[in-house]
Amino acid sequence: MVKICCIGAGYVGGPTMAVIALKCPSIEVIVVDISAARIAAWNSDQLPIYEPGLDEVVKQCRGKNLFFSTDVDKYIREADIIFVSVNTPTKTRGLGAGKAADLTYWESAARMIADVSQSDKIVVEKSTVPVKTAEAIEKILTHNSKGINYQILSNPEFLAEGTAIKDLFNPDRVLIGGRETPEGQKAIQALKNVYANWVPEERIITTNLWSAELSKLAANAFLAQRISSVNAISALCEATGANVAEVAYSVGKDSRIGPKFLNASVGFGGSCFQKDILNLVYICDCNGLPEAANYWKQVIKINDYQKSRFVNRVVACMFNTVSGKKIAILGFAFKKDTGDTRETPAIDVCKGLLGDKAKISIYDPQVTEDQIQRDLAMNKFDWDHPIHLQPMSPTAVKEVTVTWDAYEATKGAHGVCILTEWDEFKTLDYAKIYANMKKPAFIFDGRNVVDPEKLRQIGFIVYSIGKPL
Ligand code: NAD
Ligand code: UGA
Repeated sequence: MVKICCIGAGYVGGPTMAVIALKCPSIEVIVVDISAARIAAWNSDQLPIYEPGLDEVVKQCRGKNLFFSTDVDKYIREADIIFVSVNTPTKTRGLGAGKAADLTYWESAARMIADVSQSDKIVVEKSTVPVKTAEAIEKILTHNSKGINYQILSNPEFLAEGTAIKDLFNPDRVLIGGRETPEGQKAIQALKNVYANWVPEERIITTNLWSAELSKLAANAFLAQRISSVNAISALCEATGANVAEVAYSVGKDSRIGPKFLNASVGFGGSCFQKDILNLVYICDCNGLPEAANYWKQVIKINDYQKSRFVNRVVACMFNTVSGKKIAILGFAFKKDTGDTRETPAIDVCKGLLGDKAKISIYDPQVTEDQIQRDLAMNKFDWDHPIHLQPMSPTAVKEVTVTWDAYEATKGAHGVCILTEWDEFKTLDYAKIYANMKKPAFIFDGRNVVDPEKLRQIGFIVYSIGKPL
């Protein structure tokens, strides 16, 4: 029986390993983490992350061929294939601070592997890492290798949160990079055999290590660039009377461009786009390619511009001040169908409004008050350093309240900002919301989920991203 150990029981490690266990009943999969709380949650009825379909997958295999444990050493020692799926945040201090990837967690995982292994291992980079990381990892693993043979593979993950299970069941592609030596090719084949249990062969791409590592950064940069492109156009739409939905539809009908990922928004969020582009920019700079670095930097600049443009619009529309006014925030997660708030644009928008002395009332169906307060108190870039290492209970922001109901959040508010595209926001009783708000009542739709004309008929003053005012 092949044994797989995955280091890191997060948004990637947990769902990915659960799907491997489900699709490969003859493989034993153990997910380990240094966070005892996270492992306890994976072993409970309340999984540590919200992801549609995940509960069913975990329930089907947990205790059979899927296990979660804090006994990192034991399961590394026993494994044939070790996935490393730890976080790779942006560095907060020192060389490359604010740009380069912090590989501390990766390095400590590699050192653990080197310390405890007693047999040959295939070590798989599942985390998103800078190109050439495998070279550094190889050095750590082999410097005291005790005659053990390590093969490093790069197998980046392309799942998106909210659709992780769907993406894992039916991936566009699985990418495996390895050394071009006979041993490297053998390792690639071993990992290919795992995925071949459910992924059609033509969708499993094999490349050299550096292409695989760089493809992941490039894919995220291309995706984020599409959003910044449509968001830049949304600003021009507002200035000219064009409608961004119509423009995006017309542009996306060109089969060379395609219709996906062209939704204008208050800005992209999530744990990866910004950090991976910053990392790409840093790598370009380090390789003496400032023009390439500046090109990608612009994707982040437009995203920052879009978030601050939204805040400015809210304040400007509400007679140039929101001081003392109640603003309801509908949606705090970085996208629908997840409780994840890492780098959510809602943080920047709330901080911007608080900067203008607004009182904020937030409702999100999946995000707790504790998480929201933590996010609003945290410094930039601190969020992706493990929860167990973060300082406890930052001071709560007193101008912020969190409710478990959209009607409660909007009661007595001067304005409403929709910041996540949760389906339930499409079908709220907006006439009831309007009746309970201060007048004039404003709606700022950062996700284009409501029909502006219908809301105008109720009496709202409506601003939608990229749409005629
Ligand atoms: P996460 O923070 O949810 O999970 C990482 C886990 O690793 C944490 O639970 C942490 O406690 C654990 N960990 C850190 N150091 C450890 C160590 N030495 N030993 C054992 N456990 C350790 O992160 P994530 O969202 O799962 O992302 C992981 C990686 O995957 C990142 O590189 C990210 O860029 C990449 N990625 C993420 C997504 C996504 O949708 N979140 C998608 C594709 C790729
Ligand atoms: C993204 C990629 O889609 C995954 O392929 C990748 O594996 C992952 O990053 C990663 O490396 O972490 P994710 O961040 O989970 O996945 O979610 P996306 O669906 O890509 O959305 C990212 C952000 O862009 C969200 O805030 C979303 O609302 C926003 N977005 C997305 C738009 O504003 N407009 C769009 O058209 C699409």
